[in-house]
Amino acid sequence: MGRKATVQELRARKGTHLVMLTAYDAPTARLAVAGGVDMLLVGDSLGMAVLGYDSTVPVTVEDMLHHTRAARRGAPEAYIVADLPFLSYATVDLALRNAARFMKEAGADAVKLEGGAEVAPVVHALAGAGIPVMGHLGLTPQTASALGGFKLQAKDEDGGRRLVADACALEEAGCWSIVLELVPAPLAKLVTARIGIPTIGIGAGPDCDGQVLVFHDLVGISAADFRPKFLKRYAETGETMRGAIEKYAAEVRSGSYPDAAHSFGMNAELLGRIKSA
Ligand code: KIV
Repeated sequence: MGRKATVQELRARKGTHLVMLTAYDAPTARLAVAGGVDMLLVGDSLGMAVLGYDSTVPVTVEDMLHHTRAARRGAPEAYIVADLPFLSYATVDLALRNAARFMKEAGADAVKLEGGAEVAPVVHALAGAGIPVMGHLGLTPQTASALGGFKLQAKDEDGGRRLVADACALEEAGCWSIVLELVPAPLAKLVTARIGIPTIGIGAGPDCDGQVLVFHDLVGISAADFRPKFLKRYAETGETMRGAIEKYAAEVRSGSYPDAAHSFGMNAELLGRIKSA
C-alpha cells in the first residue's frame, strides 16, 4: 500500500474498481494490506463476524473504537473507514462527538453511516467539520429488521426512485463515497452513473466503482451455511483451521506433541545439581 491514500485520491478513483475489505484486528488488517486492498473497513459487521451477536445493533462505540485501534496498529499506512454504530449519530451533536473520537482516539481516516436523505444534516455537519463520510444505502444492517430482514432492497419503482434520490442527497450533503448493499445490479449501475462520487457495492453487481466484502466471508471462516448469492468465498480457511486444531488435539493426546524439536533442553550437570539440592 505504501503511502496512505488521501480521501481526494480515493474519491477521484471513480470507475477504477476500488477494493475494500473489512478488518477488525491487527493481523487481518496486516493481511488485507499485504493482499493489496485499497482501503479497510472496520465495519460494525464486527458484531456478527467476531462478537457473536445476531445483528449489528448491540455494537457500541467503545467496541468499534477498540477494534479500529487494533486495525490501525496492524496497518499504519492503510486508509481506514470506521462504522459509526447504531444510534451513535442520531443527532448532529452526537455524531460530531462520536466521529471525532474515531479520528482522534482510534486513527480512523473516515467514518461510515447508514441512511439516505434523513441523515443528510448529519453528513453535512461531519463533512463541514472536516470528517470524511462514506454513506451506506440499500440494505442497511442497523435497521434490517425494519426493512424486513437481510434481503434485496429497492426492487420496486418507489424503492428504486428513493435509492437514486438518497444517493444524490448524500452526495449533495458531502459524502465522498457510498456503499450500496443488496440492490439490483442495474439499479446500482444507474446510481453509479447518476452521482459523481464512487459507489462501493456488496451484493450490488459489477458496475459499482468498487466492491467490499466481509473478511470472514471471503476467507471462509463465517458460518458454513452463510451463503448469500452475492458472496464468493475465495478460500475455505475455516476447514484448514479446523484440520490444524484436530491435528494438534490428536498429537497432544497421543503424546507426540511437543517432541524434542519443540522443547527446550537443559545442561545435564546443571539439572543434576538442581536435583540434588
Ligand atoms: O459493517 C460492514 O461490514 C458493512 C459492509 C457490509 C459494507 O457495512
